Amino acid sequence: MPDSRPIAILGGTGPAGMGLALRWARAGETIIIGSRDAQRAQEAAANIKNKSGDNARVSGMENSAACSAAGLLVLTVPFEGQATLLKQLKPAIRAGSMLIDATVALAAGVGGRASRTLGVWQGSAAQQAAELVPKGVSVAAAFHNLSAELLNGDQAIDCDVIVCSDDAGASQFALTLAGKIPGVRAIDGGKLENARILEQITALLVGLNIRHKGHGGIRITGLPPEAYR
Ligand SMILES: NC(=O)c1ccc[n+]([C@@H]2O[C@H](COP(=O)([O-])OP(=O)(O)OC[C@H]3O[C@@H](n4cnc5c(N)ncnc54)[C@H](OP(=O)(O)O)[C@@H]3O)[C@@H](O)[C@H]2O)c1
Repeated sequence: MPDSRPIAILGGTGPAGMGLALRWARAGETIIIGSRDAQRAQEAAANIKNKSGDNARVSGMENSAACSAAGLLVLTVPFEGQATLLKQLKPAIRAGSMLIDATVALAAGVGGRASRTLGVWQGSAAQQAAELVPKGVSVAAAFHNLSAELLNGDQAIDCDVIVCSDDAGASQFALTLAGKIPGVRAIDGGKLENARILEQITALLVGLNIRHKGHGGIRITGLPPEAYR
């Protein structure tokens, strides 16, 4: 069953946000694409609607308007913009919101290699996000290891999504959304501090993709069936 609550994807005009929006719009979710520029957001929303059908519920708004309009938030911006954006958005984020962070601190953001990550004082980009959101807003880390290239296509995706969070509600929100992407299995990966490992895996996947010219993902084997959602 689609959730009746809108999901705002902040920085949703890039490949990662657009791909997630496309998959969730096709699953019947109500999506708000967020951008620093309202017109760019509306163009991106129109693009998703074209690909997912007339019944798709997708709109576009400037990021702070998107936060005011939705309590379910997904953050898909480059690491170098994450802290500044969250500080700007703090007054607009509604009390009790849940935020899924997909940010990876790739060294490419400061002129280094995309197959290396930067050290983040808090331990991971997701833990930095948790420090910057208003009190009472819960954070989950997810979707770091899904290829945007594959998300923007039409095929089922051969990848598991591991969700890390210190909050049961945020974890459930991310697990449910992951399970709506065809082919994806969602797995509870424990505490938010484990996000540092998810983020490192992305750097490994980037390196593998360059080396082997592919769109690598991960599968976790050997867990009991109930671990896979
Ligand atoms: N691409 C992938 O395959 C993939 C997979 C998993 C995770 N990720 C992670 O997901 C995040 C987004 O990836 P992406 O490839 O979609 O990135 P991107 O295209 O570089 O950026 C996404 C959007 O973020 C906004 N943005 C850019 N710089 C910003 C800044 N300084 N401050 C605020 N907003 C800014 C832009 O939207 P507006 O200009 O419209 O505001 C842009 O369209 C990254 O942290 C990435 O590591 C990516």
